[in-house]
Amino acid sequence: MIKIAPSILSADFTKLGEEIETVESADYLHFDVMDGVFVPNISIGIPVLESLRKSTGMTLDVHLMITSPARFVARFAEAGGDIIVFHVEAETTENTLSAIEHVRRLGKKAGLSIKPNTPAEALFPYIDACDMVLVMTVEPGFGGQKFITSTLPKITELRRIIDGRGLNCDIEVDGGVNLETAKLCVEAGANVLVAGNDIFTAPDRTARIAALRKVARNC
Ligand code: DX5
Ligand code: ZN
Repeated sequence: MIKIAPSILSADFTKLGEEIETVESADYLHFDVMDGVFVPNISIGIPVLESLRKSTGMTLDVHLMITSPARFVARFAEAGGDIIVFHVEAETTENTLSAIEHVRRLGKKAGLSIKPNTPAEALFPYIDACDMVLVMTVEPGFGGQKFITSTLPKITELRRIIDGRGLNCDIEVDGGVNLETAKLCVEAGANVLVAGNDIFTAPDRTARIAALRKVARNC
C-alpha cells in the first residue's frame, strides 16, 4: 500500500493546527528537523513536535537533518514521533546501529536516509534493522525544489535488496514529489511519498492527496 506523507515544512506555521486538519486524509505527517549544520537551514524541533502530538492522531514521521543525530533520537521519540528517520551521513556506524535499536526499544519505528549523492550501498549494512529507508530526491534543506531524476536507480536498487532479503522495510522518497514524479518513484519501488509544496499549494489538498494515491495505484 502506498502511503502519502505531507511535509509541514510547506505549511503556514501561524496556524499549524488548522493546516494539519486539511491533510488528515493522508497517512503520515512528515516533520522536518534541520539544525543549520547538517543542512543550510533551520526549521522546527522538539517543542513543536510535542504540541503536534497533543493535537493530532496522525502518524508523525520525523526526518532529522541534524549532525550526530544519535544524541537526539530518543528525545524525538519521547516527544511523540512515531517514525524517527536520520541520515546515514551524519553518524558513525556504531552510533547508527545503537540509535536504531534505541528507537525500536521505545516502541517506535526507525529509519535511515541518504542524500542525493550518497550511494544506496551506504544503507546496505543497516537495512535489516530498519523499518524504513528514505531516499532524498532533492538536496535536503528546503521545500519546493526540483526533483533529481538521477536518484531513481537507487530506489530500484533498494527495492531489489529489500524484496530479495524478504524484509518489511518501507522506501520513502522526499523532495520535489508531484503527480508526475510520484509515478516515477512508485515505478522505481518507493511506497511512501513525502510531498510538501505539491500538497500545500494545491487549491484542494484532500483532492491532491487522493490524486497522488491514484497515480501511485495506477503504476
Ligand atoms: C527537504 C525536506 C522535505 C521538504 C519536501 O529537505 O526534507 O521534506 O519539505 O518539500 P517538497 O515536497 O516541496 O520538495
Ligand atoms: Zn523531509
